[in-house]
Amino acid sequence: MVVTTALAALNLLSLVQGTLVEFVPRASGSLDSWLATETPIALQGVLDNIGSSGAFTEGADEGIVLASPSKADPDYYYTWTRDSALTLKTLIDNFIAGTSDLESTIKEYINVETVIQGISNPSGSLADGTGLGEPKFNVNRTAFTGSWGRPQRDGPALRATAMIAYANYLIDNSQSSTAKDIIWPIVQNDLAYVAQYWNKTTFDLWEETQGSSFFTTAAQHRALVEGNALATSLGESCANCVSQAPQVLCFLQSYWTGSYILSNFASNGRTGLDANSILGVIETFDPEASSCDDATFQPCSAKALANHKAVTDSFRSVYSLNSGIAASSAVAVGRYAEDVYQGGNPWYLATTAAAEQLYDAIYQWKKIGSITITSVSLGFFQAIYSSAATGTYASGSSTFDALISAVQTYADGYMSIVEKYTPADGTLAEQFQRDTGAPLSASALTWSYAALLTAAARRAGTVPASWGSSNGNTVPTTCSASSATGSYTSATNTAWPTAPTSSTRPSCTAPAKLAVTFQEIVTTSLGQDIYLTGNISALGSWSTAASEAILLSAQDYRSADNLWYVTLNLPSGTAFEYKFFKNESGTITWENDPNRVYTVASDCGVSTACINDSWQ
Ligand SMILES: *[C@@H]1O[C@H](CO)[C@@H](O)[C@H](O)[C@H]1NC(C)=O
Ligand SMILES: *[C@@H]1O[C@H](CO)[C@@H](O)[C@H](O)[C@H]1NC(C)=O
Ligand SMILES: *[C@@H]1O[C@H](CO)[C@@H](O)[C@H](O)[C@H]1NC(C)=O
Ligand SMILES: *[C@@H]1O[C@H](CO)[C@@H](O)[C@H](O)[C@H]1NC(C)=O
Ligand SMILES: *[C@@H]1O[C@H](CO)[C@@H](O)[C@H](O)[C@H]1NC(C)=O
Repeated sequence: MVVTTALAALNLLSLVQGTLVEFVPRASGSLDSWLATETPIALQGVLDNIGSSGAFTEGADEGIVLASPSKADPDYYYTWTRDSALTLKTLIDNFIAGTSDLESTIKEYINVETVIQGISNPSGSLADGTGLGEPKFNVNRTAFTGSWGRPQRDGPALRATAMIAYANYLIDNSQSSTAKDIIWPIVQNDLAYVAQYWNKTTFDLWEETQGSSFFTTAAQHRALVEGNALATSLGESCANCVSQAPQVLCFLQSYWTGSYILSNFASNGRTGLDANSILGVIETFDPEASSCDDATFQPCSAKALANHKAVTDSFRSVYSLNSGIAASSAVAVGRYAEDVYQGGNPWYLATTAAAEQLYDAIYQWKKIGSITITSVSLGFFQAIYSSAATGTYASGSSTFDALISAVQTYADGYMSIVEKYTPADGTLAEQFQRDTGAPLSASALTWSYAALLTAAARRAGTVPASWGSSNGNTVPTTCSASSATGSYTSATNTAWPTAPTSSTRPSCTAPAKLAVTFQEIVTTSLGQDIYLTGNISALGSWSTAASEAILLSAQDYRSADNLWYVTLNLPSGTAFEYKFFKNESGTITWENDPNRVYTVASDCGVSTACINDSWQ
């Protein structure tokens, strides 16, 4: 373990996260071969976070999708409606494409959401739909009652979209009655919510800004359109979908500033350039779109491409990781340039989203059979293909081929950045540090894995089913504030004709490593540091050298709480001895004997441990 003092300071956040080992970015290799390795790791990473058999899901009920196993700094040990729905949409699309056999997991998710929809919570209850806007729940299917940014109105729309994809699969496979009896009652509540509340303010997908959010509005429009189509297929109806969808689409237009998508209508003192909009664009992707439609912000539309450039360019100067990268090449992408959360860093899922939009666009241009460059999208194209000019280029022409090739290379650049800053074991945290690229914030983030999987699928040309963006989606000439009051009924039927079996689920195994937090209560004065060392190499093999022993953090030290701590990823099942020592200007003071002893757990479902010691 080589940690110089300078690096220890620089990597403080990642040290707290437990990646004490100096982070060495990967050498760039073939993206194809990395994705071939990373894709199964990402799929397993998702499954590890789904209860009750996932390796990291201690205490979580069957079908519950954890955001991350991280229980502290930050605590993401909850299930979010948004993250779960996006993740399940990925699994459902994989299942339909035949790339995984996870139908039992899909059914378990649907079963648990019937319960979650009915839980009264601080946002409200199912009686008038308000409870559906609650962003997150405890993993044991109870309400989270702490203060939070609520409501978040994208959740019901995203959940409807995930379930509609599976319902359409069932219809296509002669199981319409299952779709109607089990899935439609859940989807109907979510559609009723969207139709009733779309025109009210919401917290955005980052849970920070209250106002209106492009991502949310885009997801709501899509859900109403495909929800109505599902209703028709099932012999049901959704009159409120029909009445509200055009007005949601009308409102969606207002996010366009003339040169980019304003991600939020809110007074938050930001430019509005935000990965929110790129995630909204990939949410609205319709592989069957008959044109690069600006109104629904299709990935290949001029507006969505101009926005892609504006948003990604906004990160070029803010992260030192991006310094020196040419304007024609991909960069690390975060949420928004003004972000300070966990220090304000690039996110894996934002960087994969930048790639995914472009893979979607390539699919669309090939399908439509031409690329049109307008004055709106010219800047995007010129940055990556300097001789680009406005015009329409038919497939088969040399310009079409050259443009496709330039966009493909540029898109792959975003994936290569993710590759470069993914640690050797392939785990994907939430963020990577803006100066060093070291993973940080929540570990093993479910959404990071799901985002990697969808981007890799689009790169391989695998696309989801259409949501019907081309079917009569004309923008009304005048927008008006509106709402349609719906009715809500508890969805209780989970009697699947073929009961979900767990046979296709991986059996629960203990994780290879646990995040073990050492807490030591010890009074120190300025200039004193606390280290630990022990009899295994991960703890420095009893060395007191600064390069071998483990430095604890005093970040949370208070006069009333003399806490030093560090989190280390240690192999499960390992027994070790250890001790703390003080260092003051090179003078080392040991704790009294005896040596402390500890064994890292090796239990299915347990991913973290906390050792509480005080100076002896
Ligand atoms: C569910 O989990 C919450 C949060 O961990 C806890 O406070 C509550 O007691 C649990 N409820 C039940 C019924 O287990
Ligand atoms: C409601 O819709 C109107 C018309 O599109 C729009 O001007 C207004 O900003 C919307 N308000 C919210 C909170 O969505
Ligand atoms: C202890 O402090 C000295 C002087 O500040 C420093 O050189 C050394 O690296 C520190 N750590 C250890 C474990 O000696
Ligand atoms: C470290 O100590 C533990 C507990 O005494 C012991 O079981 C283990 O074998 C030791 N490991 C090494 C590498 O010496
Ligand atoms: C250690 O302390 C933490 C709070 O700081 C607590 O959650 C945990 O239960 C404690 N662990 C033990 C084994 O007492």
